[in-house]
Amino acid sequence: MDPSRITSVAEARRLAARSVPRALFDYVDGAADDELTRARNEAAFHAVGFRPRMAASMGEPRLGTELFGRSLSLPVLLAPCGLVTALHPDGAAGVARAARSRGTVSVLSAVAGASPERVAADLGSGDRPLWYQLYAPGGRAEWEPLLDRAAGAGYEALMVTVDTPALGNRERDRRNGFSGSMKLRPRGAVRLAGQVAARPGWAVRMGRAALAARGQQATDGPTVGLVAAGGSPFTWDDIAAMVERWEGPVVVKGVLGAADARRALDAGVAGIVVSNHGGRQLDGAPATLDVLPEVVAEVARAVPVLLDSGVRRGSDVVKAMAMGAAAVLVGRPYLYALAVAGTAGVERLLDVLRSDLSRTLTLLGCPGVDELGAEWLDPDPVAIAD
Ligand SMILES: Cc1cc2nc3c(=O)[nH]c(=O)nc-3n(C[C@H](O)[C@H](O)[C@H](O)COP(=O)(O)O)c2cc1C
Repeated sequence: MDPSRITSVAEARRLAARSVPRALFDYVDGAADDELTRARNEAAFHAVGFRPRMAASMGEPRLGTELFGRSLSLPVLLAPCGLVTALHPDGAAGVARAARSRGTVSVLSAVAGASPERVAADLGSGDRPLWYQLYAPGGRAEWEPLLDRAAGAGYEALMVTVDTPALGNRERDRRNGFSGSMKLRPRGAVRLAGQVAARPGWAVRMGRAALAARGQQATDGPTVGLVAAGGSPFTWDDIAAMVERWEGPVVVKGVLGAADARRALDAGVAGIVVSNHGGRQLDGAPATLDVLPEVVAEVARAVPVLLDSGVRRGSDVVKAMAMGAAAVLVGRPYLYALAVAGTAGVERLLDVLRSDLSRTLTLLGCPGVDELGAEWLDPDPVAIAD
């Protein structure tokens, strides 16, 4: 599909539903239990307003920032996501290329369906703005070699996700015939075959890519299986051991309060991501924007605090940064775009977010993301029905 049809995240979502089999769309779009936390994430952004300043004579607003010594041309990173290789043949390497071409970083999930070596090799000899996200259900015997492989392949930072000691209860996946650990049941296979037949464009794209890949020299090492990953019960001692072993920055993802942020800091991490996994793990967990202030108050003087879950517009990026986030990550927004138009779709999505962010700052009268703070927000606007 023509990537220029992506004009917003909502539009990318609508187009994605028409681009891939229903079960795949539901896997991306869905969340845990009653999807309350997923809804809360977005509602929390809607509940914050702005305090603009008029006639603020300014040029193009500054969108760039720096994280761990790397300059980013916009403060939006691509979050680690499982199974990206099933959405479009461009897969995880395509996501990494899109991030690089738009001046940001992509985080490769341990369960993306592509090995860290393969994705790094696909980027060629140029710049590799890659981080690696770790799951290791097998414990230390599994994570030590994975960590060393990611380091060997040149990944700049390690992200450790701590909110997945078990897989969340994704009921849409159950309805589509997957078990609680994401194994396809026979009944699901029959239904999936019908859904694939209804999306012939996707089937042809994926089929062609599979044929083209036949007989190619594999640069892959083993990866963590999606089924197994629902159960990576890391402890703070594990995190401290990872900090010891990994030479670059270690970032913990999945913190939802000041006490855990402090524990992460004590374990020696270099950064924290306030995340509830897009509402896919514990339903009823707080919206990330609601707990961001307490995490920022606790640790932001020491390490950068990032946020994800529910970021859908440039104005959301502004709100999170005005509340102290150093940058944000997006998950579903770029997955929808990947499903629609591969690498070009993800690039387009980043362009849309960039112009959105630039326009919001201009309308706000704020010269750059580096100037954002609480004074630009109206934390308690008159409520509107969501
Ligand atoms: C389909 C899908 C797969 C995901 N897989 C992973 C994963 O493998 N590892 C991880 O740490 N987070 C994973 N996440 C969570 C994202 O990294 C991120 O926290 C979340 O998508 C942010 O919320 P948003 O989708 O509202 O932007 C996944 C999210 C989605 C939607």
